[in-house]
Amino acid sequence: MINIYSEDEIAKIKASGHITYLTHQHMKSFIKPGVSTKFLDEEAGRFIRELGGIPACKGFEGYPGNICVSVNDEVVHGIGSENRILKEGDIVTLDIVTLYQGYHSDSAVTHAVGKINKEKEHLLTHTEKSLYVGLKEIKDGAKLGSVGARIQQYAEHHGLGVIRELVGHGVGHEMHESPDVPNYGKYNTGVTLKAGMVIAVEPMLTAGKRYVAMLDDDWTIVTEDGRPSAHFEHTVAVTEDGYEILTGE
Ligand code: MF3
Ligand code: CO
Repeated sequence: MINIYSEDEIAKIKASGHITYLTHQHMKSFIKPGVSTKFLDEEAGRFIRELGGIPACKGFEGYPGNICVSVNDEVVHGIGSENRILKEGDIVTLDIVTLYQGYHSDSAVTHAVGKINKEKEHLLTHTEKSLYVGLKEIKDGAKLGSVGARIQQYAEHHGLGVIRELVGHGVGHEMHESPDVPNYGKYNTGVTLKAGMVIAVEPMLTAGKRYVAMLDDDWTIVTEDGRPSAHFEHTVAVTEDGYEILTGE
């Protein structure tokens, strides 16, 4: 079943999304060489709580962190560690889920640590753009497959790999709801979007092949070929004539 949220409920998801957005803004100044991924996890958790939210990843299926912090070839679900120190040229993804007054919001951003090489620059630029290319397909009556098709088309055109095993999702009462929102697919197929649906669209792209593997911690997902991966995500509401970003300004 796909939830349809009322205007009041969407306002609440947006209030949650505002905390997620402010936390991403707050974290920017800490992304620099020498910082540990553990520090980023703790500072984000502290800030979310200070704003009255709950970092919803904490304890989700036993996940130990407040947020997910994934470096370079780590795609998602990296766990902050005091031994993992960011260095110039790394890229780091912060994936933040806030629970606020009963509603979840989910957003991810990949940052450059200092100056990064051309491969990573290309990856970051086009992964972020692919999110907006996908979002443009969203409106009442459109098909969900069109979102994934556009992301895939854009990504592959720029030589980036589209991971199949990881997908976006509905979000609201729960962190993960129906429907799945793949970053690949066929134009004009699949679920019909309706005003009031709320989905997290989250292209996870790689600079190399699209295959991924799980690390021994049973959480961190990495690229199989060790090439870097990027991730940009917004929670959006479907509207009559488009979409509204709930994790933006
Ligand atoms: N945004 C991540 C996701 O949708 C949040 C995961 S929380 C975790 O998968 F606990 F699973 F890490
Ligand atoms: Co998500």
